[in-house]
Amino acid sequence: MEIETKQFRHHYSEWGKLVFAEGNHDVPFEIKRVYYICDVPNGVRRGFHAHKHLEQYLICVHGECKVLLDDGESKGIVLLNDPKEGIYVGPGIWREMYDFSEGAVLLVLASMYYDENDYIRNYNTFLKYKKGAEHDNTIC
Ligand code: TYD
Repeated sequence: MEIETKQFRHHYSEWGKLVFAEGNHDVPFEIKRVYYICDVPNGVRRGFHAHKHLEQYLICVHGECKVLLDDGESKGIVLLNDPKEGIYVGPGIWREMYDFSEGAVLLVLASMYYDENDYIRNYNTFLKYKKGAEHDNTIC
């Protein structure tokens, strides 16, 4: 799958970098939750889940990391290494984050409050969910 990066509005200057994002304007949802992942030890891979409804934007605000996205049919990998760049991760997309550089900080803007019931944490269950969703878009 092809992964498109989005350039957030920004002011990069000799005084540093400023990047901004507004819910419903720069991202296609109201931002209900923000979290960030940092201090990831060398070699650690995280994620390994999809969401049923959650929409997110992932931005590596410092350093770099790779993100693998999988829609159940094809996979794509993107290197996030620019604080003004983000990727949209919608519902039904399996994700894994890895190759975090030392000091990397991955910021996530999310459309929903934390809800463990929205997670699909098993890859085979994810594939079955995707197959079911193809035939039944009322699945929840
Ligand atoms: P998880 O989403 O599994 O992290 P990752 O996919 O990056 O490996 O979250 C790890 C733990 O943190 C899990 O027990 C749920 C908890 N958590 C919250 O309580 N609230 C949150 O907003 C998030 C993202 C995680």
